Amino acid sequence: MRIDMNRRAFLTGVAALGAAGLPGLARANVPTPYSFDLMPPLDDEADYFKWMQQNRGEDAAFLKERWSRYRVLLANRDVWDVPNKRAFLLTPREEFVLKQNLNRVYDHAYLDIGFGVTISGPHLVGRMTSVIDVKQGEKVLEIGTGSGYQSAYLSNLTDKVYSIEIIKPLAARTRGIYDGLIARGYTEYKGITTKNADGYYGWAEAGPFDKIIVTCGIDHVPPPLLQQLRNNGIMAIPIGPPGAQRVLKIVKTQAADGNINVARSDIFNGKPVAFVPFTKLEGDVIKGTHNN
Ligand SMILES: C[S@@+](CC[C@H](N)C(=O)[O-])C[C@H]1O[C@@H](n2cnc3c(N)ncnc32)[C@H](O)[C@@H]1O
Repeated sequence: MRIDMNRRAFLTGVAALGAAGLPGLARANVPTPYSFDLMPPLDDEADYFKWMQQNRGEDAAFLKERWSRYRVLLANRDVWDVPNKRAFLLTPREEFVLKQNLNRVYDHAYLDIGFGVTISGPHLVGRMTSVIDVKQGEKVLEIGTGSGYQSAYLSNLTDKVYSIEIIKPLAARTRGIYDGLIARGYTEYKGITTKNADGYYGWAEAGPFDKIIVTCGIDHVPPPLLQQLRNNGIMAIPIGPPGAQRVLKIVKTQAADGNINVARSDIFNGKPVAFVPFTKLEGDVIKGTHNN
């Protein structure tokens, strides 16, 4: 177990407060208006806490958890560049999990978010987002909004995030979470556009995209997603049989003669990772998956 028992007991108390409908500890309004120039200290824990409390008004207990997970992500090279370090440190994961999971929000684990699906672990979010190397102003498409955490992280890298979720009530719940957070001053989430649809077909009207991140597992790259990825664009996608996908980085390049080249590499060096399935919408009903 990574966190000591006192801290675990304290965070369990926080979870219980939330579950009872009482205000959680991280409910303050954000004191400093968001901008891409805001930069929390990346190298010193005490400086980070002080800065975050002053500028983001967040709760010390969660900040401590976030910092210790950050140190592990750095050690494992799940994040390595300044934009992703900043994005991880600025994203309050505790706002995107179920109250009963608040006591393990920064664990190295996926967590249930209801509707039979999960929020991916911080290591997976960190590494998949780091490999697509998002630059400010780029357009990014996410397939599988889920809890909203991944898109929230992305909105600290660019102000053009598009995210699709297939489960209608989950899409609506997460939209409500963003809107509530925007009202509290997390204005970076204004850069996230969401819709409820089957993400297999991408979002042609909003594309093409510089980067695409797929957070559900499938046995092939959906052709519409590849088509909507710009030349020199990068996609991170879990490909493989149910429950044992390999997370691939896909780089699309188009030669002068129009030929498209797709280079693939495994971002976990062949280690299988289990993902929620890439399901299929038939009319209004989710039926089976898009696997061949
Ligand atoms: C691992 S979970 C959520 C991860 C999410 N990015 C997060 O930060 O919480 C994957 C999500 O993909 C969604 N999903 C599965 N198939 C989909 C599809 N065809 N189109 C859009 N979303 C899909 C699931 O409903 C689920 O919410």
